[in-house]
Amino acid sequence: MCGIVGYTGSQQAAPILLDGLKKLEYRGYDSAGIAVMDDRGISVSKVRGRIANLCEKTDSGRSVPGVTGIGHTRWATHGAPTEENAHPHISNDGRFAVVHNGIIENYIPLREELTADGYCFESETDTEVIVHLIEKYYSGDVRQALIKTANRLRGSYALGVICAGEPGKIYAVREASPLILGAGSGENFFASDVTALVAHTRNVIYLEDGEFAELTCDSVNVFDCLGHAVEKKASRVMWDVQAAEKGGYEHFMLKEIMEQPGAVKATIAPRIKDGRIRFDELDISDEELAGINKIMITACGSAYYAGCAGRSAIERLCRIPVEVQLASELRYSDPLIDGHTLLIVISQSGETADTIAALKECRSRGAKVLAVVNVVGSSVAKLADYTVYTWAGPEIAVATTKGYTTQAAVLYMLAVYFAERLGRLGESGGLTEELLSLPRLVQQAIDMNPAIPSLAKKYHASSSVFFIGRNTDYAVALEGALKMKEISYLHAEAYAAGELKHGTIALIDEHQPVVALCCNPSIMEKTMSNIIEVKSRGAEVLALTFQGNQKILPAADDLLFIPEVDPLFSAVVEIVPLQLLAYYVAKENGCDIDKPKNLAKSVTVE
Ligand code: F6R
Repeated sequence: MCGIVGYTGSQQAAPILLDGLKKLEYRGYDSAGIAVMDDRGISVSKVRGRIANLCEKTDSGRSVPGVTGIGHTRWATHGAPTEENAHPHISNDGRFAVVHNGIIENYIPLREELTADGYCFESETDTEVIVHLIEKYYSGDVRQALIKTANRLRGSYALGVICAGEPGKIYAVREASPLILGAGSGENFFASDVTALVAHTRNVIYLEDGEFAELTCDSVNVFDCLGHAVEKKASRVMWDVQAAEKGGYEHFMLKEIMEQPGAVKATIAPRIKDGRIRFDELDISDEELAGINKIMITACGSAYYAGCAGRSAIERLCRIPVEVQLASELRYSDPLIDGHTLLIVISQSGETADTIAALKECRSRGAKVLAVVNVVGSSVAKLADYTVYTWAGPEIAVATTKGYTTQAAVLYMLAVYFAERLGRLGESGGLTEELLSLPRLVQQAIDMNPAIPSLAKKYHASSSVFFIGRNTDYAVALEGALKMKEISYLHAEAYAAGELKHGTIALIDEHQPVVALCCNPSIMEKTMSNIIEVKSRGAEVLALTFQGNQKILPAADDLLFIPEVDPLFSAVVEIVPLQLLAYYVAKENGCDIDKPKNLAKSVTVE
């Protein structure tokens, strides 16, 4: 999704803005622009396509002098990805430039009103109403103009604003779209994402909804919608610049796949002490826990699939019914939720618009909210009653990998933790050894599949791939198919293996690749029959199973392996070869792996 950067200080702004925008490229975008201010006024440079085009157009920023500026990467929503629609947008009098993330829901009546007032529009965007409103309400005081403008806007917005009459100042406004201030020394910044800030400062201030900020090179002032000063504390970002760089790997996605043993370990190990799980961040009382009669898990995309993977561990161990619902569906489904429901919200970014809306909807019906989130200080983390962080570190590739595995790991830990507190673990023992072994098993799953690049050569030209499995294997198949679709653009479908014969098997014919997940010994024979069903119709079967499983050999054409793992917790390990398969197929297909077409890292609009 769109990205914002802002700078004020004593250095030339344009190169810093361009560098910040490059750091935000991973979020997905289709045009970009910067506005830089000097004594002569504001100059705007915009391009369609990549930041590299903007660097070329501005001679790497050298052709736009000035020490104050704002920049933007746009992911088109209202209006095509053209130069006219790219941000920054400029007011008719040339005094203001604005960058915007989010969606202005009432932009049509505002546009009609402003057109009737005589303002000329140069783009098709919803954003342009903002800059004309600021001009309309400006009578010498930018703060007041921003407050009046914000009062007229409905929807979500993070804004960066500069005013030609106020050199050295940048303004920021936040409502339901992330915006973070970076406090430097003799220079200050804002950005929609800390990745654009860490090269300059680790001291960040998270703006809240309804807050405004005015930054100069040596001051950061935050105020509310009445113009009253708001005291804010800076937080320190713990990860460093290298964490957001490729570190020798060809793609962020590959680096992040390889980082999974460490990410899963960082998520699990510190929470296990003396053979027991401790969630110091969860202060749910025994009474509250005993009162939960239903757990609802909600999320989008891969985070939803992590929920599907975690569901059976929670149900089996806690004996509490668990529903997993897509956030975009749940928010409009009049859900059966009350004060006895625990809502588990899963989100890597913590900023997914549908997830936030589902959270608010369920909360308004009385549910307590437990968030499983990666980005510290994100909206989901702030809105929840309890937050458990997945310590995956920054995830830059659009397709999630370590985000998913750490989410599933947290759900497994919650399953064991709640079951123990409810006195329902019984024969299962503490299960902490099994959890602690997961990072090692993830590493083995990476190491034991050197054939994946050559398998990718065999399968990459297929027009579609089916993924089949039962129970957890099916949950992992869903995520495996999504990985394949989103980065290799190969059509992929996941089916519950037993469901094939109810329709889908009609699509299986000669040479149709079928990835068959067969990692749970207790239901292996059932899945084996489904493998034989597709095999007898000519399918090429690529089976994913645990190493040493001889039984599968006659049925499979090719094999992917995982080490033996407790089926209760297997998703974290099983998904790894499928991530690698999707990665190498995408590479064979020459795809832009870290920035797949049409996709954005953080989906902050509905
Ligand atoms: C797929 C992917 C997406 C996200 C989804 C939710 O690889 O990354 O499906 O999982 O957009 O994002 P978060 O977890 O940030 O809420």
